[in-house]
Amino acid sequence: MSRILLGVAGGIAAYKACELLRRFSEGGHEVTVVPTRNALTFVGEATWAALSGRPVRTEVWSDVHEVPHVRLGQEADLVVVAPATADLLARAAGGRADDLLTNVLLTARCPVLMAPAMHTEMWRHPATVANVATLRERGTIVMDPADGRLTGADSGPGRLPDPDDIHQAASSLLGDDATVTGVRTRDLAGLKVVVSAGGTHEALDPVRFLGNASSGRQGLALARAAALRGGRVTLAAANVSEPTPSSVEVRRVVSTGDLGAVMREEARDADIVVMAAAPADFTPAASSQTKLKKQGDAGLTLELRQTMDVLATISSDHPRAGVIVGFAAETAESPEALLELGRAKLARKGCDLLVCNNVSGGAVFGAAGNAVTIIDRDRIVASATADKNVVAHRILDAALGVRARQHRPAAEKE
Ligand code: CTP
Repeated sequence: MSRILLGVAGGIAAYKACELLRRFSEGGHEVTVVPTRNALTFVGEATWAALSGRPVRTEVWSDVHEVPHVRLGQEADLVVVAPATADLLARAAGGRADDLLTNVLLTARCPVLMAPAMHTEMWRHPATVANVATLRERGTIVMDPADGRLTGADSGPGRLPDPDDIHQAASSLLGDDATVTGVRTRDLAGLKVVVSAGGTHEALDPVRFLGNASSGRQGLALARAAALRGGRVTLAAANVSEPTPSSVEVRRVVSTGDLGAVMREEARDADIVVMAAAPADFTPAASSQTKLKKQGDAGLTLELRQTMDVLATISSDHPRAGVIVGFAAETAESPEALLELGRAKLARKGCDLLVCNNVSGGAVFGAAGNAVTIIDRDRIVASATADKNVVAHRILDAALGVRARQHRPAAEKE
């Protein structure tokens, strides 16, 4: 259980913070809500108090004997501000302390995550751009707003990131220090990251397909994590039904053939590629244009042919992506056996890193957690048994490690 302080600034998106609060509370966290005066115009105190089960304060003048303006910030494990309006960003960047929330921001020593929401013009205004840069420089984690429909008829960047994205960002910040450092320093800024997620479908006829049980969650977590670290992310989503992150470009695909085409195109100028999807290895040799009918009592024999090995193809393509990461879902008897299978697969595929997980007993598909061993050609780079968000960050750390070695001057490589 962690102590989360949820700051809410005065924007119409304040109502979406109710969902976020519910998610935090359901996760067993103790949440204290500190709205600004203007936020209460959108969502009243009673709602916040009922949803959090705790008193709600806006000003530094209530319960002065408890010194809340200092204590709340000091005691929090994480501060999340959603929505963070242009005015709140300006006050935070200026170091103001004119209400309880800005006092909290000055006294907090834990990670501070801000989820902006405002009109596109305000987000792009040089004043806001400078305020965001100042806050990021100081270690505040300012998410990029989502692109889409805003209040009124206009649309563009400025929507509050999806509560799901804010929730997952918050979960990874509660994870460990290494993750917080990666997110704070935006160590993927300027890099193109391409992630594939989900499981492909190979059509048998217009209504039937061959598929697999991949939920796409690890790939989604990777895309979210890379975006949070400042990367420019493209997600190739194969039949993913869960919501996709709001700040990544999504290219939807169905079959392994589609996935291969999209990945080959996107990988060309990518700095990091992660093949987290589960492509079908076989596809019907011929797909029927009409629904296959039963033929009396006779069964059905399908002729299958192998699909493209996307990972092996992008690993041998020219130009090749900077760092290529593959996954190995294996059913192995022991960690040693898993590693052996992983090494052979890495060599076969020609990728730089392989994330090995043991799927014996269907332990991974659809689950929130994951247990992985990340290997390169010579050694184990990292192991993690954790929430898929934290695992995603460890995979990105490992990819950045390979990238750093690739870019080291020749003399140092000796
Ligand atoms: N992969 C791919 N194209 C395929 C099959 C798999 O790009 N047609 C990728 C997966 O996305 C994953 C890696 O290859 O990153 C390993 O997937 P896995 O299913 O473990 O390996 P397979 O190649 O299918 O090998 P095998 O089933 O023989 O172990």
